[in-house]
Amino acid sequence: ELVKNISGLVDLERELKGLLKLERVIVVPGDSCEDETVKQEMGAVAAKTLSSLVNPGDIISVAGGSTLARMANMAPKKTKDQNNMIVPARGGLGERVEIQANTVAAELANNFNCSYRMLHVPDEVSKESLNTLLLEPKVNEILDLIKNANILIHGIGRAEEMAKRRGLSQERVSSLLDKGSVGEAFGFYLDKKGGVVERVNTVGLTLEDLNDINKVIAVSGGSDKSEAILAMLETGHDDFLITDEGAARKIYNLL
Ligand code: G3H
Repeated sequence: ELVKNISGLVDLERELKGLLKLERVIVVPGDSCEDETVKQEMGAVAAKTLSSLVNPGDIISVAGGSTLARMANMAPKKTKDQNNMIVPARGGLGERVEIQANTVAAELANNFNCSYRMLHVPDEVSKESLNTLLLEPKVNEILDLIKNANILIHGIGRAEEMAKRRGLSQERVSSLLDKGSVGEAFGFYLDKKGGVVERVNTVGLTLEDLNDINKVIAVSGGSDKSEAILAMLETGHDDFLITDEGAARKIYNLL
């Protein structure tokens, strides 16, 4: 807290909270695009914040990505089972197993000492296969839980980086960028205004579903992600933003 006050981060948090109309903004010192330990710190703060927001019986939905994987890693060990359930926000998006939402859910549940479910839906399936999968009672049971989540915690990435990381062809990457994609969150590619340019074909939460989720927490930092973060915030669905100084200062300058 002392470091934060000296570097003016408390004021920055307050300013951003007002300008972005969020319930809370937390800014971690440093820039995670230059220093990996900042991402770790952001993850730790996110896990602590999440832990403080969870009520007994809540269903927590988690997205994937390296930041969320850190969050799960750094989550405080809970000893009391508060009857919580952790579920992935959506099916496969083309990420490495280590940072998939399923993995984040399992690791977080291990630390929070609660149950979890995995959603085994392969990356980018055809409409026909999706419809067949939806006939599976087990898939439906998990989707029901996902749709009833009380809390969502998710990362935000740069559209280009995410598309490339998930192995999209150069053609598709170019097409996404030509159509104005700047940010990406749980499989939704967004333009500057928060409009959906494209969505990864899978099951789980849609942006509209976020209207019914009480607490939506975005965790994303790095000075290169300011535009991407703003794109997601433009959708108006987030309540909490946990970021770093690198992103926060750039976001402030963009507003
Ligand atoms: O959807 C957004 C990405 O999952 C963010 O990934 O935390 O590795 O930057 P990242």
